Amino acid sequence: MARVRAGEKEEGLEKHIGLLKLAQTLSFLLIFMAGIIIGLAASSHIDRYFNSLPQMLSSSSSSASLQTIPDYSNCTVIHRDCSNDDDDGGGVKAAKKKDEIRDCWSVDGFVRPEEVRHRMSDDELFWRASMVPVKEEYPYDRVPKVAFMFLARGPLPMLPLWEKFFRGNEKYLSVYVHTPPGYDMNVSSDSPFYDRQVPSQKVAWGSPLLTDAEKRLLANALLDFSNERFVLLSESCVPVYNFTTVYSYLINSAYSFVDSYDEPTRYGRGRYSRKMLPDIKLHNWRKGSQWFEVNRKIAIYIISDSKYYSLFKQYCRPACYPDEHYIPTLLNMFHGSVNANRSVTWVDWSIGGPHPATYGADNITEGFLQSIRKNETDCLYNEEPTSLCFLFARKFAPSALAPLMNLSSTVMGF
Ligand SMILES: *[C@@H]1O[C@H](CO)[C@@H](O)[C@H](O)[C@H]1NC(C)=O
Ligand SMILES: *[C@@H]1O[C@H](CO)[C@@H](O)[C@H](O)[C@H]1NC(C)=O
Ligand SMILES: *[C@@H]1O[C@H](CO)[C@@H](O)[C@H](O)[C@H]1NC(C)=O
Ligand SMILES: *[C@@H]1O[C@H](CO)[C@@H](O)[C@H](O)[C@H]1NC(C)=O
Ligand SMILES: *[C@@H]1O[C@H](CO)[C@@H](O)[C@H](O)[C@H]1NC(C)=O
Ligand SMILES: *[C@@H]1O[C@H](CO)[C@@H](O)[C@H](O)[C@H]1NC(C)=O
Ligand SMILES: *[C@@H]1O[C@H](CO)[C@@H](O)[C@H](O)[C@H]1NC(C)=O
Repeated sequence: MARVRAGEKEEGLEKHIGLLKLAQTLSFLLIFMAGIIIGLAASSHIDRYFNSLPQMLSSSSSSASLQTIPDYSNCTVIHRDCSNDDDDGGGVKAAKKKDEIRDCWSVDGFVRPEEVRHRMSDDELFWRASMVPVKEEYPYDRVPKVAFMFLARGPLPMLPLWEKFFRGNEKYLSVYVHTPPGYDMNVSSDSPFYDRQVPSQKVAWGSPLLTDAEKRLLANALLDFSNERFVLLSESCVPVYNFTTVYSYLINSAYSFVDSYDEPTRYGRGRYSRKMLPDIKLHNWRKGSQWFEVNRKIAIYIISDSKYYSLFKQYCRPACYPDEHYIPTLLNMFHGSVNANRSVTWVDWSIGGPHPATYGADNITEGFLQSIRKNETDCLYNEEPTSLCFLFARKFAPSALAPLMNLSSTVMGF
C-alpha cells in the first residue's frame, strides 16, 4: 500500500511538473497573443479592435498594467457616433446604433462635431479649447466657418430673419446659443439653431459673469476646428447684408473687429483701478462695445488668459464693467496691430444715457436700413477706405421682425 502510495505520489509529482510546463507554455502563448493584440491596436486598424479590446483585457487577470485603458463606451463632445444619419425608421435606427462600432478617435469628430452638449466644467472646457495643432496642413478639406455666437437672455425674437439669412450656407457657419440655464429653445429640427444651446450658466449684466459667458461661448465654438471667425451677437441683433457678403468680409479680413478706444473721462479712464498695477497700466486701459468679432488666434488667446482676467474680476467692479473693458484692453496690450479697433455691429447711442436706442416696427424703413448699410462714416477694410463698415445692427424690438422680413430681399439681399 505504502509503495503504491509512493508511486502514486511520484506519478502525481510528474503530473504536476507536466501541468507546470503546460501552464508555462500557456502563459507564453498568452503573452504572445497580448503582443499581437497590442501590435494590431497600434496599427492603422485601431478602430476595428477598439471596442473589444478593453473587454478582452478586463477578463484576463494577468494584465494589470493594461487595465488602465479607459472605457470609451460613452463619448461626448468631439466624439461622434458613426451610425448612419440617413436611416429613417426609428426602431431600426436604435437597434442599428447599438450594433455600430463607435470610433471615438475619428478625425471626423473634430471636423464635424455634432453635439454641443457636454459635461465639462469651464476649467476643463477652456483648457481643451486652448489646444492648437502644430502641424500646418489639415488632413481634411477644411472649409473655414464663421461661428455665430448668440448671448441671449431668453427667446430669440429675430430667429426667422437669421434662419432666412443662413439658408443655403450651412456649410460655412456654426451657431452657438448661450441662454439662462434651464431655458429650452424650441426650434424645428431643420433649423441651424436646432440643438445648438451650449451648457450655460447664470449671467448678471454688468458683472464678470457676463464676460464668463462670452468666454464660454468662444471656448465652445473653438472645439470645432473649422471655425475661423467668431462673432458675438445678442437676441436684438440683426444682419444687414446677405451671408455671402458677411462671410467674405470676415474670412478675408486681416484684422479682427473689436471696438477699443481710449476715453479720457470718468466713463473710460475713470474706471481704471491702480490695484491692477504693475500688470495693467493706465495707458493700456481701453473701452469698447462688448459685441466683438475675432479670428481663431485671438479667440484662443482670450479664453487662455487667466492672469489679466483675474485682475479684472477682482478690481473691475461697478461702475467698472468687465464686458466693456477686458477684451478691448487685452487686445490693445497684445494684439493691437491686428485689431481694426472698430465693431462691425452698428448701434445708435445718439439718445444718450446708459442704453442705446431700440428700433421697433414703426422705425423700419428702407432709408433707415440703407443708412446703416452705407454709412458715410469712413472706415478701413484691410487698409483700404470703404463705406461698408457694419454687417450687423442692434437693438431691434420683436415688433421689428415683420417689416425686416419684408425688406430683407429687396434691401438687404437675402
Ligand atoms: C456610461 O453612461 C451610462 C448611462 O448614462 C452610465 O450608467 C455609465 O456609468 C457610463 N459609463 C462611464 C464609463 O462613464
Ligand atoms: C414647440 O414648437 C412647436 C411648433 O411651433 C409646438 O407644436 C410645440 O408645442 C412646442 N413645444 C414646446 C415644448 O413648447
Ligand atoms: C449678396 O449681396 C451682394 C450685394 O450686396 C450681391 O452682389 C450678391 O449677389 C448677393 N449674393 C446672393 C447669394 O444673393
Ligand atoms: C488699433 O489700435 C492699435 C493700438 O492698440 C494700433 O496699433 C493699430 O494700428 C490700430 N489698428 C488700426 C487698423 O488702425
Ligand atoms: C421709432 O418710431 C417711433 C414712432 O414713430 C418714434 O417715436 C421713435 O422716436 C423712433 N425711434 C427711433 C430710435 O428713431
Ligand atoms: C451713420 O450712422 C450714424 C449712427 O451711427 C448716423 O447718425 C448717421 O446718420 C449715419 N450716416 C448716414 C449717411 O446714414
Ligand atoms: C412690405 O413692404 C411693402 C413695400 O415696401 C409694403 O407695401 C407692405 O405694407 C409691407 N408689408 C409689411 C407686412 O410690412
